[in-house]
Amino acid sequence: MIIAQNLGLVLGEGDARVTVLDGVDLTVMAGETVALLGPSGSGKSSLLAVLAGLERAQAGTLSVAGQDFSGLGEDGLATARRGRIGVVLQAFHLLPTMTALENVATPLDLAGIDRAMPRARAELEAVGLGHRLNHYPAQLSGGEQQRVAIARALAPAPLLLFADEPTGNLDHATGDAVADLLFDRARAARATLIMVTHDEALARRCGRVIRLADGRVISDSMA
Ligand SMILES: Nc1ncnc2c1ncn2[C@@H]1O[C@H](COP(=O)(O)OP(=O)(O)O)[C@@H](O)[C@H]1O
Ligand SMILES: [Mg+2]
Repeated sequence: MIIAQNLGLVLGEGDARVTVLDGVDLTVMAGETVALLGPSGSGKSSLLAVLAGLERAQAGTLSVAGQDFSGLGEDGLATARRGRIGVVLQAFHLLPTMTALENVATPLDLAGIDRAMPRARAELEAVGLGHRLNHYPAQLSGGEQQRVAIARALAPAPLLLFADEPTGNLDHATGDAVADLLFDRARAARATLIMVTHDEALARRCGRVIRLADGRVISDSMA
């Protein structure tokens, strides 16, 4: 599903230059659940953004779901992501002027997927939000907003689901419930799941744990 070779990324200017990714090699098979673990600043979010096609690496090669991401520009990456890659971030990133239903249905429409509204409704029901379809994000709790984000990410039936500290903004009990949901829905969708976390317990629920330090992979182990 993913073949990354020697990925490199340097950000910032002058004194603020940081080697964010320093020769990352990584192969992920379809259906794996992978945790990216490591201290703050080790490059987890940057690696996830590159693998998800949200950011471009400056060096190395990357193939995702059979597509050569390293050869694509921003527009090409946007097209390649659409319908194939779902992303859930720590800070939900719902559109505040759209209802829960519209937040899930709009990307389906953009991806040219038929019956966007009924699909969005079914996906929201699957995350337990059938009674919140017409609520705006500001009218939802943090846990509910993250459920909407999960529904939005999974509604197009993506091959790959990326999550960056998906429970990081939630209290412990809500975070556990959202994590359960994320694993359940990813499994039901047969999506390959790649999740950034610094929660060891959450990482242990993945089939594979990859540890980063200073932009490098320092360990990679199967559960
Ligand atoms: N736009 C940027 N300019 C300069 N440095 C950056 C930029 N974005 C991230 N960094 C640096 O890259 C490193 C890795 O960041 P990040 O991928 O967010 O780490 P993590 O998610 O593991 O905490 C950090 O040291 C961070 O300060
Ligand atoms: Mg991060």
